[in-house]
Order: sequence, then structure tokens, then C-alpha cells
Amino acid sequence: MRILGIETSCDETSAAVVEDGRHILSNVVASQINIHRRYGGVFPEVASRQHILSIIPVIEKALEDAQVDWGDLGGVAVTHGPGLAGSLLVGVNVAKAIAWAKGLPLIGVNHIEAHIYANWLVAEPPKEFPLLCLVVSGGHTSLFLMRDHGDYEELGHTLDDAAGEAFDKVARLLGLDFPGGPAIEREAKHGNPEAFKFPRAWLKGTYNFSFSGLKTAVLREIQRYGDGISLKPGVKLPPGVPVADLAASFQEAVVDVLVEKTRQAAINYQVKEVLLAGGVAANSLLREKMKSAVLVPVRWPPPELCTDNAAMVAAAGYFNLIKGLRSGWDLDVVPNLKLGTRR
Ligand code: KG4
Ligand code: ZN
Repeated sequence: MRILGIETSCDETSAAVVEDGRHILSNVVASQINIHRRYGGVFPEVASRQHILSIIPVIEKALEDAQVDWGDLGGVAVTHGPGLAGSLLVGVNVAKAIAWAKGLPLIGVNHIEAHIYANWLVAEPPKEFPLLCLVVSGGHTSLFLMRDHGDYEELGHTLDDAAGEAFDKVARLLGLDFPGGPAIEREAKHGNPEAFKFPRAWLKGTYNFSFSGLKTAVLREIQRYGDGISLKPGVKLPPGVPVADLAASFQEAVVDVLVEKTRQAAINYQVKEVLLAGGVAANSLLREKMKSAVLVPVRWPPPELCTDNAAMVAAAGYFNLIKGLRSGWDLDVVPNLKLGTRR
């Protein structure tokens, strides 16, 4: 069965056609990165207006690339949360219009679940449950125990910044490009990860995370080189700041905590595999360290499926639909939508 997936939760306008939740026939992503770069982050109102401009051409291209017609589709899956309300509204309304006009089932998809299902868009997807899913993106950092398709228990989550958000904010502090994750990873390659001993928030006895103290610790280090440095965009870095060493030491601190919490949960819940998901799963230090620390197989999606895309939405939509889950015409956007039960 072919599902049309639509994703507009943040700053990528994306549409994809995926067969049986596994095989990507097309995956078109129109990124707004160049528009938001000047603000040093995503500007919500600009993002939703950009979605309005791009959504129809992106869907047309997805059908054309997949060489399918409307009649070849078995459903329309769309992200309805979590995300930016104005951005989500664009995708949900377009999906409703298409599903209604073509008589197709409409499936509202949780964006976090979609990130997890990016791990099914490969030749050999996970077969046995339970799985442990570390979702690390610009908006979320959570550990989920996945007992079956659609069955999630959130073991822990961030109490403040998401991991990707911390990468983006620290990159801004260091005068690096947006989005910050790839920029920090590039810079860290020339730096010494031991140069600075940044704090790790272990939050013992829980699977929760906290990254805001780490961000402040980086700020304090930079402030030693000059006054008036803040998190505001466009602030000039004083001379002499060891950018590469700070980037490497910061990245090491974030990865250490993500790996250790995941390692402990993998043992405690005796999972069959660990799945990484979300934009930060593209980070190679995280992948390497996780692989050597965790005793079970660790998998992650290819880089283009780690960041926001509609193929993962179509995949999640398919697995929901075959379980009989579909949405009504009153499907609403839920900007703070949660996934599964919480500890
Ligand atoms: O999953 P995503 O595309 O959007 C959300 O749902 O939030 O994740 C985007 C986030 C950004 O914060 C970006 O800096 C981060 O993922 N990211 C990375 C890397 N590539 C993207 N963080 C660390 N290392 C990377 N290579
Ligand atoms: Zn995302």
C-alpha cells in the first residue's frame, strides 16, 4: 500500500510516497534553512507562510518522482504535532483536503513517532521487541521503551533544552552556522574534547536529561575572553576564543550523557536493539560512542532521514493504518502532543 506523507511541523516542507511503510518511492524536502539563518533560529510566522508557498509544488514533485497517480494511493499521513501551530496547520489542512477529495483515509501522525519510524525505511528493519528509542532532535530529547508497534513508554525526557537546541544555542555563541549541530560537529574535528571539563547533568536514578547548565558553562568560558557576550544573535566573538576546543568539549559532554543513560536503560529493560532518531542522530560521535557502549545492536537512519522529512511520516502512518488507526475530519493540530505513556 502506498501512503502519501506530509510534514510541515517546523521549517521543512516535505512530501513523500512510501510503499508498505518501508520502501521510499519519493521524498521531497524543501528546506527553509537559508531563510531562517539570518535569525539564528526558526522564525515561526515566517515558517508557516513559507509552507503555504511550497506545499503544493512539493506534493506534486513527490507524486511525479514516485511516478504514481492519486488513484495509486491508499492513504494520506500528516504530522499533526508536536511542532509549531501555524506550520502544522498548513500540512494538516492540505492533507484533509486531499484525503476528502480523493476518498482516502486520513492518518494524523505524531512527529516523534515518525522520527522513530525512520528506522524502518531500510532494507532490514527491526524485527524483535522491546526496543529502546533515543529521540534527539531540535525540539525533543526522550528515551522511549517501544514494546510493539505503536506501544511506547517514555522513560525520561529533557527537563530544559533539547539536545539539538543546545547544539544550536552553543553554535550561535561560538559564532558558527545554523543549524548548529553539523557546524559544531565539523568544528569539533579540529578540537580537543578534553580541553574543557564541562558539567554532565547525570540526574541519578532517572532517565531524564538537562542541557541548560552545560550551555551556560560554555557561555561562562567565552565570557572570560571578553565582556558582554550573550546568547543574542549577531554578537561578535572576542579574539582568542578556542572555538574548536570548546565545540569538541561541549559535544563530548552532550554525547557522554546521552550514551550513558541509554546504556543503563538498555540493560535495565533488556531490549533487543537501540534505535537512534531525530536530527542529532546524524552526529557521528554519538553513533560511534553508542555503538561501543551498548551491548545490543544500535541502529540509526541514514542522515537525510534523521532530520525532518515526510518519508518517516508516511512510514509511521502506514503502521498506524494497518492497525486500524485513522483520524476523523476533526483532526486538529496539537503543538505539544506527547508520545505514549510516561513514567
Ligand atoms: O529532527 P530535526 O530535523 O528537527 C526537529 O524535529 O527538531 O532536528 C534538527 C536538530 C537541530 O537542532 C540540529 O542542530 C540537529 O538536529 N542536528 C545535529 C546534527 N545534524 C542535525 N546535531 C548534532 N550533530 C549533527 N550532525
Ligand atoms: Zn523532527
